[in-house]
Amino acid sequence: MSSKITIIGAGSVGATIAYTLSTQDIASEIVLIDINKQKVEGEVLDIAQGTCFRDPIAITAGEYADAKDSDIVIITSGIARKPGQTRIELTQTNVDILKSITPEIVAAAPNALYVIVSNPVDIMTYVFTKISGLPENQIVGSGTLLDTARLRCGLSEHFKVAQKNIHAYVFGEHGDTSFVPWTGAYISGVSVDEYYKLLRSMGRDVEELDKPGMLEYVQKSGGRIIANKGATFYAISAAVCKLCSILSSSSDSMATVSSMMHGEYGIEDVCLSTLTLVGPEGIRGKVPMRMNKGEIEQLQASANALKAVIAQIDL
Ligand code: 2OP
Repeated sequence: MSSKITIIGAGSVGATIAYTLSTQDIASEIVLIDINKQKVEGEVLDIAQGTCFRDPIAITAGEYADAKDSDIVIITSGIARKPGQTRIELTQTNVDILKSITPEIVAAAPNALYVIVSNPVDIMTYVFTKISGLPENQIVGSGTLLDTARLRCGLSEHFKVAQKNIHAYVFGEHGDTSFVPWTGAYISGVSVDEYYKLLRSMGRDVEELDKPGMLEYVQKSGGRIIANKGATFYAISAAVCKLCSILSSSSDSMATVSSMMHGEYGIEDVCLSTLTLVGPEGIRGKVPMRMNKGEIEQLQASANALKAVIAQIDL
C-alpha cells in the first residue's frame, strides 16, 4: 500500500494519527496541516525522526495546496471536548471551523476519500456532506468505530476470548444515544447469549453478561479517559488508521462508520453509524443487519437526537 494521506489538525488526535500511520505500512506520504505552524513543525520533526528505523516515508508540514493528489484526507480540526463537556456542546464552534476549512481542502484534493474525525463526529460528517459538494461515497465519519472497538475490548475481557472472534457492534450516534444491537452480537458463529451457556456447560466460571453495564462501559470510556488524562487520542488513532487501511486496500470491509442515511430503518437526512460496507471506493452502502423492533427504535431515537442538534446549528 502506498497512499498519500493528509491530516488536517495537529492537535493530540491529528498528531497521534500521523505518528500511528508512521509506524505502519499504509501511507508512503503523510502531510500534516495546522494553523499553528510552530506546533505542526514540532510534531512533524518529532515523528519524522522516529522513522529512521523503518523504510522511508515522507512526513511534511504543509498548506492546503500540499494536499493535492491525496488518496485520503483526515479532518481532525476543532476544539477538543473538555472534562464535563458533552460532544454536542462543542457543536457550533467546530462546525464553524469545518466550514472555514472545507472549500480550501476540497479544492486541493477533490478526489480524496475524506475521513471525518472531529467531534461531534456525526454532525460534522453531516455538515461536511452538505457543504463539500463531494459525492457521498467519498465521505466517511469515524462514527462508532471506536465505540465498537471498546465493546469488543469489554466483551473480550468478560468472556476471555480473542477480540478477532467477536462480531458485535455499537450503532447510532458516537455519543450518549449509541446502543448495542445485541441481536447481531456473535462470538464467531455463536450468539453472545448462547456463548455464555456454552462456557457454563464447559464448567467455566463466567458471569452472565450485564448488557446495560457493558453499554455504560462503552459510552463512559471517552469521558473517563478525559477526566483522567485530559484527552483521548490513542484508541481513536488506532481506529482511524484501521479505517485508512480499509480505504487503501483492494477489498471492502464491514465497519461501523458514520455516513448519510437514505431511508434505511426508516431514517434519512442524518449521518450515523450502522454496519456499513466500506473500501477503496469509500462508502458502498449501509448493510441491513437484522435488528429487533426495540433496536430499530433505539436507532431511530439516536437519529432524532442528532436531527434535533442539526436543527439548532447554523449551517
Ligand atoms: C472518544 O470517545 C472523545 O470522542 C472521543 O474517545
